[in-house]
Amino acid sequence: MPRSSAEPLPVELRRDVAEPLGVQLARQVRQLAANGVLAAHTRLPSSRALAAELSVSRSVVEQAYDQLQAEGWLTSVRGAGTYLADLPSSTSRPSATAHRRSEGSRSHRLLSLDTGTPWQDHRVSLGWRRAWREVSVARPAQGYPDPAGMAELREEVSAYLARRRGVRRTPDEVVITSGTTHAWALLLDVLDRRGSVAIEDPGYRAAVAVAADAGFGVVDVPVDVFGLDVAALAAVGRDDVQAIYVTPAHQHPLGVSLSASRRVALLEEAGRRSAYVVEDDYDSEFRYDVAPLPALASLDPRQVVHLGTVSKVLHPAVRLGWLAADRALVRRLVERRAARHDHPSWPLQQAVLTMMREGHLDRAVRSARRIYAERSAVVTRRLAAVLAGQSVGSAGMYVTAELSASMASDAVAAAGAAGFLLPSLADYCRTCDRHGIVLGFGGVSDTELRRALDAVESGLRRGGGRRG
Ligand SMILES: Cc1ncc(COP(=O)(O)O)c(C=O)c1O
Repeated sequence: MPRSSAEPLPVELRRDVAEPLGVQLARQVRQLAANGVLAAHTRLPSSRALAAELSVSRSVVEQAYDQLQAEGWLTSVRGAGTYLADLPSSTSRPSATAHRRSEGSRSHRLLSLDTGTPWQDHRVSLGWRRAWREVSVARPAQGYPDPAGMAELREEVSAYLARRRGVRRTPDEVVITSGTTHAWALLLDVLDRRGSVAIEDPGYRAAVAVAADAGFGVVDVPVDVFGLDVAALAAVGRDDVQAIYVTPAHQHPLGVSLSASRRVALLEEAGRRSAYVVEDDYDSEFRYDVAPLPALASLDPRQVVHLGTVSKVLHPAVRLGWLAADRALVRRLVERRAARHDHPSWPLQQAVLTMMREGHLDRAVRSARRIYAERSAVVTRRLAAVLAGQSVGSAGMYVTAELSASMASDAVAAAGAAGFLLPSLADYCRTCDRHGIVLGFGGVSDTELRRALDAVESGLRRGGGRRG
């Protein structure tokens, strides 16, 4: 017997963001279903009741319900209401990997094809074991630690940046952070909140959320095949842009690199505005056609704030990264941070230091690169075979295919029915109207990836047949 959701739906719609209300609602319901907060067969409120509860027009709710129904998340029984669809059998009986991931939380009912979970080399576990053993017998120095991060770790990062990314920063110009997003929040903390920041659209939504939460206006800058559209940024009338957040190595989520001429133009534009260029270098190590492009920070060390992370190489749960910038800025950041003791814990810094010193970070990059190159070729080939003529781009740990809205929703629905949560390109847009799929292949096994591709491929073929 279908159950009724007596509780109000835990969704919150924001009117101060560009994302349409119906799209926000569909995204949040999808998330609640994927996370297991809403169980299969839960009856959703009627569109009239939910519209009243959320103070939106009924068409907003109908649009969201229609979209979710097309994707296979909801079913509607004439005269009886709208229900959460049956979860696929692979969801109710999760695979070993999915089960492992759901331990301690109910948040991974579907196997996620996200762009943020890296492949794990078992040899890295051996490195961790050694690193933690060392921590267990080491002692932190007396007193409160250096708010910039451990000096030895900053030295190691400085050498890593020079060796791998062509970025010349002394250890005094490096701050150890709890990852990219934390580094961005630290930087925003010393900027003028009355101003705005420019961010790629489609782009990294967490960067937008952090900036908006900190009270900054967000200027959405379009992206094309050459990366961030600098001419569009130059045309922005606001003169209060203080930072331009960009993913030059692999535009997130389109995967394209910022072209050489755009790099020069971007630095000029930032100079004209006296704005920082914030280079999110999240997965630059993973390039398969040519060697990784030098970092933007290697072109103009004064203006560029370079952010790095171990999230894509070791694991996002590690929560460690770095910010490399001009010394004067680093000093301001460290002063601000000193009062809060807001730095990664000593054992973590010490362990990552061991991982770096003993070559585990470099080794993890080398082995993951081999795996990703193979997977990226497989995914690209299979998608290209069904999507003749559509653009399929591969970068780092994911492949992005731009599709029509209906094809994207067919692919997401087919993946969902097979037990996979496949990100949709539209979820990365604030103002842009772009559709497609963003298939992350780092966090699944080869067999799971094959199953996901089978599902996506057949969803696209079925949809193509219907449309054709
Ligand atoms: C564009 C981008 N930058 C950075 C990160 C990593 O952020 P963090 O270092 O905070 O884990 C991610 C993670 O998914 C990302 O997609």
